[in-house]
Amino acid sequence: MLSADSLKDEQRLPRVPEPGVMVIFGASGDLTRRKLIPALYDLAAQRRLPMEFAVVGVSRTEMSHDDFREKLHDALEEHRSGQISEDVWESFSKSIFYLPGDSKKPETYKELKNFLTRLDDERGSEGNRIYYLSSSPSLFPTIVEHLGGAGMNREEDGAYARLVVEKPFGRDLESARELNRNLRRYFEEHQIYRIDHYLGKDTVQNILALRFSNGIFEPIWNQHYVDHIQITVAEDIGVGTRGAFYEEAGALRDIVQNHVMQVLCLTAMEPPVTFDAESVREEKVKVLKAVRPIPEDRVEDCAVRGQYERGWVFGEEVKGYGEEKDVAPDSRTETYVALKLFVDNWRWAGTPFYIRAGKRLPKKVTEIAIQFDPTPHTPFAHGETQGLEPNVLVIRIQPEEGISLKIGAKVPGSGFEISSVNMDLLYGTAFLEEAPDAYQRLLLDLMLGDPTLFIRADEAEGAWGILEPVMRAWSRSKEVPPYQAGTWGPQKADELIGRDGRKWRRP
Ligand code: BG6
Repeated sequence: MLSADSLKDEQRLPRVPEPGVMVIFGASGDLTRRKLIPALYDLAAQRRLPMEFAVVGVSRTEMSHDDFREKLHDALEEHRSGQISEDVWESFSKSIFYLPGDSKKPETYKELKNFLTRLDDERGSEGNRIYYLSSSPSLFPTIVEHLGGAGMNREEDGAYARLVVEKPFGRDLESARELNRNLRRYFEEHQIYRIDHYLGKDTVQNILALRFSNGIFEPIWNQHYVDHIQITVAEDIGVGTRGAFYEEAGALRDIVQNHVMQVLCLTAMEPPVTFDAESVREEKVKVLKAVRPIPEDRVEDCAVRGQYERGWVFGEEVKGYGEEKDVAPDSRTETYVALKLFVDNWRWAGTPFYIRAGKRLPKKVTEIAIQFDPTPHTPFAHGETQGLEPNVLVIRIQPEEGISLKIGAKVPGSGFEISSVNMDLLYGTAFLEEAPDAYQRLLLDLMLGDPTLFIRADEAEGAWGILEPVMRAWSRSKEVPPYQAGTWGPQKADELIGRDGRKWRRP
């Protein structure tokens, strides 16, 4: 039997998945080039991929295996920072294949099935399959139905068949339920991996590490000591070339339903009994269930949207949203969202969670700020504590990943002046290691069959359920307040938090 220490050592060993094939539907799209192939290449370079692993791209464009490989090599040069080892590429690229085909036609699946069986024989992939849906979301049900029709969903003779679903996972509660029903017609829940790349970020996982591996935070992580929480997902970029997609999505669907809700769950959840998929996800779902429903006729009390107009970001003049490519000049799509939510349970009753997410804000920053109550009494004279603010713990997801705790300290000198200062932990300097890209972690977990960092069906539906009244109210009203690009959002967002006597942070 292994001792506790050697067991821990075992768990620390690099995890190498079983042989298998990853089939990417919509392989000529952006995600394959920007994220999937760079992440797989890095895993190959770290020898995390088994020799018998293969990638098969499926898409309508006519291309040979070599054309596809060449495109991916270019993409790697474009999207991955750092030197590419041609030796690694040479051997990794031999495991990449391409099959042109229309995912709406049954013939494509017949051909794919034969091709995969051949790969099993030639490369020893042992019948293990990952089907990655990275095509247009409208095709997800069709692809799944065809996979099912061809019997490619079955897990036989110990082989696995996993389905990866990229966001957006539906566009409201009903469509998410419908999508779940469609997926589950052919795949069981344990085969379905709904991906949210935020969960692959080390710093997002660190929310759990910080909360549950340190004894000092848990006693004060509740409504008795926390005044409020602010979650910010700010981006300086606009919609760029993704206008068509964004017109359909908007900030609420693009960022809040998934990334922000996940961060909220990790911040607010109870300690899971163990760090396994079901325990962790169960606790997250409980948070979503506890979020106080937003009354549809009072949405303006707790939700604000905005749209960026022409302005300046980092000294450069940028277009307004309505002037972006593939965007209607009179578009009512929101590029900014602020919300005030309550989590109605014993831990958080009465503590507001203020959330904001937007594009074309002054900088890119994702952070969670836990704003603690002020001290109940200060023995110091007023003049001595003018520079003192209540404690704030900031978990910085990106960039400058780290944790910062604002504390009061005596200003050096012969007087007794107290001021707030930050105690900072910067990941980069503490660990001297660069965090891997989120997709690396998630693709590896996927191959290893670990769904902890993937979204369960009831999580996706729970998050939509919270936003449903907001979406309904917004679809009826025409008013989308503008904000100048390069500012922190519309005036109404300041009013939302200002009504409670609080202010947004300036991260
Ligand atoms: C994606 C959104 O999910 O997340 C994009 O579709 C957004 O609009 C991106 O820019 C932000 O991700 P990250 O990892 O850069 O914070």
